[in-house]
Amino acid sequence: MSRNNFISVLKQEVDRIDKAKTSKRFEKIITGFTKESSPKAIIGKEKYQVFNSNDYLGFRHHPLLKKAEREASEIFGTGPGAVRFISGSLKIHRDLEKALAKFHKRDDAMVFSFSFATNLAVLYCLIAGQNKDSLVDNNVIVISDALNHRSIIDGIRVANLPKEQRAIFKLMDPVHLEEVLEINKKIYKRALVVTDGVFSMLGEYQKLREIRTIIDKYDKEYVNGVLLVVDDAHGVGIAGKTGRGIEEIEGVKADVLIGTFGKAFGADGGYVVASQTVIDYLRESCATYIYSNSISPGTAGAALAAVELLDQAAGQKILAQSRTNLATFSALMSKAGLEFAAKSQHAIQPVLVGDPAKSKALKEALFAAGFMVTSINYPVVPAGRDEIRVQISAAHTQVDLEAFAIALTSAAKTLGLVSNGSNL
Ligand SMILES: Cc1ncc(COP(=O)(O)O)c(C=O)c1O
Repeated sequence: MSRNNFISVLKQEVDRIDKAKTSKRFEKIITGFTKESSPKAIIGKEKYQVFNSNDYLGFRHHPLLKKAEREASEIFGTGPGAVRFISGSLKIHRDLEKALAKFHKRDDAMVFSFSFATNLAVLYCLIAGQNKDSLVDNNVIVISDALNHRSIIDGIRVANLPKEQRAIFKLMDPVHLEEVLEINKKIYKRALVVTDGVFSMLGEYQKLREIRTIIDKYDKEYVNGVLLVVDDAHGVGIAGKTGRGIEEIEGVKADVLIGTFGKAFGADGGYVVASQTVIDYLRESCATYIYSNSISPGTAGAALAAVELLDQAAGQKILAQSRTNLATFSALMSKAGLEFAAKSQHAIQPVLVGDPAKSKALKEALFAAGFMVTSINYPVVPAGRDEIRVQISAAHTQVDLEAFAIALTSAAKTLGLVSNGSNL
C-alpha cells in the first residue's frame, strides 16, 4: 500500500478521459500575434485567424490598454503585493471599481482575480452566512437556469445546501421559473434566482425582462423577498447599444451583476456591482476577495482603460464595428445552407453539427485552412447537439469574414453538413 496506488488511479482517470476523447490539456501553443489590424495567432510557423476568442472588441491588442497596463505597473509594481485588507488597496483597483459602478449605474463595485472566483464567493455569501455568528441564514431556495456556467454551479455547490433547496428552471423558461417560485413560496423565507445573461454555448440572451417581472411579483410572497443575480460575462462590453450587456438589451437590472474583464474588455479579472449595502456585505464576506490577491496593477490599469474607452467615441466606433461584422457574417451564413444551434444575435455563433467526430473534423479542417474555432461536445452541450462555436470580433476584416465563411462552408460540405445547398 502506498500513495503510488492513488497516483495510479489518477493515471487511469486521465487514460479514461483520453479514451473518451474529451481531453482538453493538449492546448495549442500560441507564440505571438501578427501586428496586422486584425491580429493572427502564430502557432509553429503558421498564422491563424482567431474565430474562437472572447476578445469580441479586439481590445486585448489595443494600444491604449497596453499603455495603461505599462503605466500602472510603473507606478504600482507588477503584482498586488498582498491581499487588500492586509496591505491596503492600490488606488488603481479603487479607480477601476468606481469606473465600473459608474458604467453599470450602481453604488459600488468589487474587483476579483477572475470572475469564476467572483461567482464562487458572491453566490456562497448570498446563499449562506460565513460563520456561526453570521446573521445571514440559509433559509433560501436557490433557482438556477439549466444551462448556467460552471462557475455558477460551483458557487451554489460550495454553499452546501440540502438538495431540496436547489432547483433548476428549464433553459430560458420564465414560466417554469414562476412555477418553482410558486411551489416554494410558503416553504422558504427567501429565494435567489441566478442566471447567465448570455449563454456562452448558444449566444442566446436570457429573457431577463420576463424574469425580472416574475421576481418582482414574487418578491412580496417571500418574507425576505427574491433576489436576482446575473452573471453577464459574455454580455458586458459587447451586448446592447452602448455595451452595458444583457441589462441594456432587456431594459431591466439585476440586483447583483457579475462581469469579467477577460472577454470583451480585453484584460483579465472579475467583478460584481450592486447597491452599497450589498457590496459592503460582500467586501466583509467574500473569501476569494479577502484571502486572495486582486488582479495585478497592470491588469487593473488595462481594465480601467477598457471601461473608459468603451464610453468614448473611439470605443463606441469599435462596438459599432462588431455589430457590422456580425451582420456581415450573418448575411454570408444566410447563403451557406448551414444549421445553427440557436438564433444568436450575439458574437457567439453556434454552428450545429450534431456529431462529436464530425464537429472535431470540421474544427481540424478549418485549422488546416488557417482558422481557429472551437468544437463543443457532450457533456458541455446535450448529446447530439455538438457544435462549432464561432466568435466574431470587431477586429475581423471583411476579407477575413468572407474567407472564413467560404472555408467553413466548403469544409462543412465535405462532411455532408450542408443540407439545403449553398450559394457561397
Ligand atoms: C458565463 C461565464 N461566467 C464566468 C466565466 C469565468 O470567467 P473568468 O475567466 O473571468 O473566470 C466564464 C468564462 O468562460 C463564463 O462564460
